[in-house]
Amino acid sequence: MKVLVAYYSQTGNTKQIAEVIHSEVLSRGYEADLKPLAALTPESLNGYDLVFMGSACHSSDLAMPVKALLEAIAPSPPFRLAGFATHSTYTPEGDARRRVLYEAWAGQCTTSFERTCQEKGIAWCGYFGCQGAPSAPIEVFIHQTILTDAEEWEAYIADARTHPDEGDKEEARVFARRVLAAGSVGSVVAVCRKAEPGVPKYAVDAVELIEDFGITGDYHAGKFVRHRYLAKLDPTMPNHRHVLITDTVIFADVALRGIDLEPGMMAENIVVDGVSVMALPLGTRIGIGETLVELTEKRDPCGQLNGSHPRLLEAVSTDENGQVCWNAGMFARILKGGRVRPGDAVVVQSQPEAV
Ligand SMILES: Cc1cc2nc3c(=O)[nH]c(=O)nc-3n(C[C@H](O)[C@H](O)[C@H](O)COP(=O)(O)O)c2cc1C
Repeated sequence: MKVLVAYYSQTGNTKQIAEVIHSEVLSRGYEADLKPLAALTPESLNGYDLVFMGSACHSSDLAMPVKALLEAIAPSPPFRLAGFATHSTYTPEGDARRRVLYEAWAGQCTTSFERTCQEKGIAWCGYFGCQGAPSAPIEVFIHQTILTDAEEWEAYIADARTHPDEGDKEEARVFARRVLAAGSVGSVVAVCRKAEPGVPKYAVDAVELIEDFGITGDYHAGKFVRHRYLAKLDPTMPNHRHVLITDTVIFADVALRGIDLEPGMMAENIVVDGVSVMALPLGTRIGIGETLVELTEKRDPCGQLNGSHPRLLEAVSTDENGQVCWNAGMFARILKGGRVRPGDAVVVQSQPEAV
């Protein structure tokens, strides 16, 4: 997939967000360009599969050059579109007054993107907005026209000048990951279970997922925590690790370290292809065949893995530079049960709330 991160920025706020999204997309292994709007024509967007389009908010809406570019896109282009903007007014979270101000002074940004996508038949992938520090003339405008109360103004401007801040940038990274993940489709390669704890689990023809419980006949199924050490500490803790999911990207990574993994060697229950589970934020919901699961925790690799191969723990807990990097699967809880077998579709569905 080829990705473009385009931006229109006069004072650098939107450019900062564009850079964060661009580096996040690159870090996920995609080919990605970062370009200011002035370097683009409507036709040049057609060379991409996914376009992140960013704009400063002007007069409650996307900046005119961005609107003009969107307007000039020919119907049914080959790319999907995600939008982002920075605006000086508050974000819509928080109290009613802030929401009203957001709607009045920045609310058009998202509707302009959505309207364009509807009119042009562009697949719309979602919107991210955050505050951006106002320039000096905009500060004067806001103070004289919108936030005239001295106390409200002081509180607003002290904070507004700090944006986009690290929190905004982290939210932009999460947004980029959601957009990359949404709609990605893969398939089940193998399903595994074992009644006893430990590695490996054994590949079988099908497994039965039980809602809020686990896999029938699998050691890790249960209402309450099944991890043996944690269960000793508090056996009444709820079980959020109903299934462990790995993917073929992990298998390929481990192969580069000279280890040939077979499904089940990491005690995983489901191996998928076409969806990189380690890249998905926690909270992501994944449809697997007729079931629905939600990612709850990155698996903390432990020494047991070396029962499958003497170097497996090292291979899935450090990167090539020796830095700690967990690459051993994701735990999920089962929201909707059903049968899962190799060949079933895997569809990333959700907009998770947290990383
Ligand atoms: C001409 C102009 C109009 C603006 N109008 C709005 C507005 O209606 N609502 C708002 O929240 N911010 C408005 N702003 C503030 C910018 O959206 C905000 O500072 C943004 O982060 C600037 O992005 P940039 O640094 O990428 O240019 C305006 C800024 C300018 C220069």
